[in-house]
Amino acid sequence: MGTKVTPYASAEERAKKEQVAEMFDNIAHSYDQLNHVLSFGIDILWRKKAIRMLRKLEPKRVLDVATGTGDFAIEAARMGVKAEEIIGVDISNGMLDIGRKKLKRKDLDDRIQLVYGDSENLPFDDNHFDAYTAAFGVRNFENLNGGLTEMLRVLTPGGTGFVLEFSKPKSFPFKQLYWFYFKAILPLVGKLVSKDNRAYKYLPESVAAFPQGEEFLQIMRDCGYVDVRRKPLTGGIATIYIGQKSRS
Ligand SMILES: C[S@@+](CC[C@H](N)C(=O)[O-])C[C@H]1O[C@@H](n2cnc3c(N)ncnc32)[C@H](O)[C@@H]1O
Repeated sequence: MGTKVTPYASAEERAKKEQVAEMFDNIAHSYDQLNHVLSFGIDILWRKKAIRMLRKLEPKRVLDVATGTGDFAIEAARMGVKAEEIIGVDISNGMLDIGRKKLKRKDLDDRIQLVYGDSENLPFDDNHFDAYTAAFGVRNFENLNGGLTEMLRVLTPGGTGFVLEFSKPKSFPFKQLYWFYFKAILPLVGKLVSKDNRAYKYLPESVAAFPQGEEFLQIMRDCGYVDVRRKPLTGGIATIYIGQKSRS
């Protein structure tokens, strides 16, 4: 996959995982606000789309990987996913703290649990969750294949993973507008509001370097997923990747 894109220093100088956790700790205070403003709220619609697919599966246990401040988990609970267990896991305590406050405010703290943990070494038993969700998280992993394999381990046989991630639009005018916005506008506004110089420059850099479309589906297959498929969203700006754990 070429050079590893990292937030602050090179990957040789400091592990990507450590840098990613530090970056999200730094921007946690403004993450939710910036996320929805910078995406004009489209990120909310994308999560809802994935949750509608998840809801049909009637999962009993759901894991939200790289949950951040818990938005995917919260959406699942709000949209009537009747799981008896919804857990969000993340390596940034700063993001989790904001998430826990949000759960309290929304009176969802008895339905959703947010726990500290690394997606590449999950603190859960094999075959535990009927489904997992992961929004804008896997791009930040130190080891993508390691993380996807670990997420598959905790799925029940026949369980389903939903990965929502930025992708790269190919057609005019989405492609041109997307890169102009991502490279010129977003880093500027992101820096002003979050006060972190690098975080919103790292975002387009990490998207540019990240596998997408068929390439990502092949990585899922290589990690052992079956029945993989994808649903491009909003002209290909983002994609929902879906894959299952084999029943046998
Ligand atoms: C862009 S945020 C997305 C948060 C949330 N899923 C959302 O949709 O708003 C990415 C999150 O991935 C988390 N993350 C990155 N690498 C991780 C890992 N190896 N294990 C767990 N969380 C990780 C970061 O700490 C951060 O909170």
